[in-house]
Amino acid sequence: MLYKDLDRKTQENLLTEIEKKLQTYKDLNLDLNMARGKPSPEQLDHVTTLFKNVSMDNFMSEEGIDVRNYGGLYGLIELRRVFGSMLKIEPESIWCLSSSSLTIEYDLLSRLMLFPLPGQSKAWRDLDEVKFLCPVPGYDRHFNMLDSFGIKMIPVPMNDEGPDMDVVEDLCKKDSSIKGIWTVPMYSNPTGQSYSEKTLRRLLSMEAAEDFKVLADMAYAVHHLHDDPAEQDPVYPLLDLAREEGHPDRVFVFASTSKMTYAGAGVACLATSEKNRTWLLPSLKSQMISADKVNMLKHARLFRSLGGVESLMKAHAKVLGPKFELVIKAFDEKLGPTGIATWTRPKGGYFVTIWVYPGTASKVYARCKELGLSITDAGACYPYGKDPEDSALRIAPSYPHMDELREAINLFCLVVREQALLKLLEESRS
Ligand SMILES: Cc1ncc(COP(=O)(O)O)c(C=O)c1O
Repeated sequence: MLYKDLDRKTQENLLTEIEKKLQTYKDLNLDLNMARGKPSPEQLDHVTTLFKNVSMDNFMSEEGIDVRNYGGLYGLIELRRVFGSMLKIEPESIWCLSSSSLTIEYDLLSRLMLFPLPGQSKAWRDLDEVKFLCPVPGYDRHFNMLDSFGIKMIPVPMNDEGPDMDVVEDLCKKDSSIKGIWTVPMYSNPTGQSYSEKTLRRLLSMEAAEDFKVLADMAYAVHHLHDDPAEQDPVYPLLDLAREEGHPDRVFVFASTSKMTYAGAGVACLATSEKNRTWLLPSLKSQMISADKVNMLKHARLFRSLGGVESLMKAHAKVLGPKFELVIKAFDEKLGPTGIATWTRPKGGYFVTIWVYPGTASKVYARCKELGLSITDAGACYPYGKDPEDSALRIAPSYPHMDELREAINLFCLVVREQALLKLLEESRS
């Protein structure tokens, strides 16, 4: 029976039972962690084994560039081709510029603040106000980045197809100080949901400021949890869609191998139109001569030896899939019948989002912490750290061992139930 339909006495009895169980957890002095969206050591060890078979006894790239030396600002074509097939973008439009996509994103935002875009007389920093739309829940680092530039963030709700496009279109039509939107179109952080083609086309065709930009972080472009293509979300060719929808320069795409090979020690890229690349070039040339091409060559050779990225991503999915299944099964069984929470069922990515009983997310976070379980801070997935419903929590199942994860999720579900009952009892008192 749904918790809200139980009489007060039954709610109190249930609460007492749950609190007894939680006390036994407390006595164990646990140290569990579901906060980190990181590959597990098992995944990294697999990558290390694969890299051992990559020969680096010659340093010449396909185009005859000695990768140990300066030059090759755009990165190696053999790796740009790999990103091209992942993102469905022609390799010529892709530049490998760093080992971290977040760094490229921050750099791009800096350039947008500092240098006027083609056809614009002012850079964004010279405007009275710059605003960005932020689909919520979203990625905290994107929000922190905007905040660090003083860009005003406007939350936009997500639905099953991505951001609510009626809201987005309405806001952009009315307000030309809205200069962009942060998006994670594939297996988004933190809900794991992907944007539909319709949503993407609407984003790329809608009426908005002339210098409005869609920043598309494709961090999880090939991070499926299932082998069966029917169980995978599709990648849409964002640059093609932007051209077809009449705004070829509206989109910047980012990706990296952080959750394919090594985080922070892989390769990251940016893809955009020729006009945007021409605009980027002067500041880019002042900033760097080339990124780490030795690592690019190593990655290109790894992917060539594997015949692409698919077998590597299947190996990751083999480790990650059961962890996601465990989490969803626990939610279905332990929370489903109570009616106090809802959650996503991602087909890929690194996260699940759960909406616990409204008004209890920060209490769930604090109580988990007290019992030795770290989860992502409540509110972290909202601009300025403020979830108006105090309900969404991000679960990261990737890093812990299955045994640790099982224990962590059981404890988490008990806390979610405890806090919902406390809130229901409080509500029935007032
Ligand atoms: C959406 C998203 N973008 C970017 C990153 C960081 O990527 P990188 O390691 O390439 O900087 C993450 C890491 O969790 C992420 O979730």
